[in-house]
Amino acid sequence: MRINSSSSKSSNKLENILIIGNGGRENALAWAIQKNELIKKIYLLPGNAGSKNINKSERISLDLNNIESLIEKLKYLNIDLVVIGPETPLAGGLGEILRKNNFDVFGPGSDGAKLESSKSWAKEFMKEAKIPTANFWKVKSLKEAKEIIFKSPNPLVVKADGLAAGKGVFIPETKEASLKATEEIFKGKFGQAGEIVVLEEKIEGPEVSVFAMCDGKNYVLLPAAQDHKRLNENDTGPNTGGMGAYSPTPLITKTNLERITKEIIEPTITTLLKKNIDYRGVLYFGLMITKSGPKVIEYNCRFGDPECQTIMPLMDKDFIILLQKCSLGKLIGNETIEMSDKFSGCVIATSRGYPNDYKVGFPINFGNIDFEDCQIFDSGTSLNSSGNVITDGGRVLSIVCQGKNFDKVFEKAYKNLKEISFEGIYYRQDIGHQVRTKTINDRAN
Ligand code: AMP
Ligand code: GLY
Repeated sequence: MRINSSSSKSSNKLENILIIGNGGRENALAWAIQKNELIKKIYLLPGNAGSKNINKSERISLDLNNIESLIEKLKYLNIDLVVIGPETPLAGGLGEILRKNNFDVFGPGSDGAKLESSKSWAKEFMKEAKIPTANFWKVKSLKEAKEIIFKSPNPLVVKADGLAAGKGVFIPETKEASLKATEEIFKGKFGQAGEIVVLEEKIEGPEVSVFAMCDGKNYVLLPAAQDHKRLNENDTGPNTGGMGAYSPTPLITKTNLERITKEIIEPTITTLLKKNIDYRGVLYFGLMITKSGPKVIEYNCRFGDPECQTIMPLMDKDFIILLQKCSLGKLIGNETIEMSDKFSGCVIATSRGYPNDYKVGFPINFGNIDFEDCQIFDSGTSLNSSGNVITDGGRVLSIVCQGKNFDKVFEKAYKNLKEISFEGIYYRQDIGHQVRTKTINDRAN
């Protein structure tokens, strides 16, 4: 990636960076940021075991809810830019609190984060902006829901309104199952996040994740990615946070991109401005390419995980400049992002049992990894008392490779995965099946 030279200089200091979050996404962001020679130190709050592989980095432990002491410490550390990774602190207003205390922040305030933290708010936003999306009903009682569910010709998708760590969406096969899911949400399955339920018409088509880096007025697009939400091969099994991804994706044709820009991205930015929402961060459009064109499935106010791990290796050292420009409201909007001509793919290794119950604390063994054009970003890991890396989450590692074509990318990723072991390791064998010409079995022969 290169930002054209007229815009690549920034007058603001850019030496000490703080990244908030502890997942693969934040590990990949840190890795991309450390490439820039301007950077002296990257503080990871709290980071994970993978942080030790990031040059110039230091893990810190601070309570995000103790604002006074947080601000004091960040001032002491001379933080030039704060990058907030996950949705929870963004929805909680950390962005605006830090900005009010004169920090430059990459990440929207709680007003912009509402696009993710309230599905009903996001749907009403889209309705107002005439952005294509599935038809929906916002309901506050089971009685109301029952009437809508049984009047509708097909079973409706059911969503808890608030943040539910990716678990609040149900795609039932029958109307009875839609009603049951609604009842469970109203009974408190997701606490306050389920006080409102959104019922949606089910739409169909391949999904694509589009990322717009916004500075409040202007935006620049990153290469789009395709995530793999389902746990098992052939896109079956329960929904997960994401089992792997690849980028760029051929789903984004010139025609699709024109429509996405005109019908979705631009009306979103215009409507944010109209609502006086100064959105400085990444706007993630979860899209479905339906027969009648692209539609928004959801907005997120942060980078996708594992899409972020997939895209970061395609960025060059100026990526941090782009983050800073967004935080300062200084994008021109016509910045040229020159992409590496390589393709990138990511496979996630999980703990057995994920996305439901799983055990953690197992040592991770790394064999002979070929690190050329390959990165291992830690997702859920920690260090035990002897300093060894152990599993500490459902999604454990992100294995990311780049190459001249997707066959080469995934050949390398799966070869490296064979060199990694921990008790209960599980990963899908078919990540990138949409863009690979060979299956893993072909290669094994
Ligand atoms: P969300 O958290 O809203 O992205 O939903 C999680 C997943 O559920 C999406 O990635 C889609 O695969 C699926 N989904 C959500 N809404 C719909 C819908 N209206 N029709 C079909 N599938 C949906
Ligand atoms: N990979 C989907 C997400 O980050 O929400």
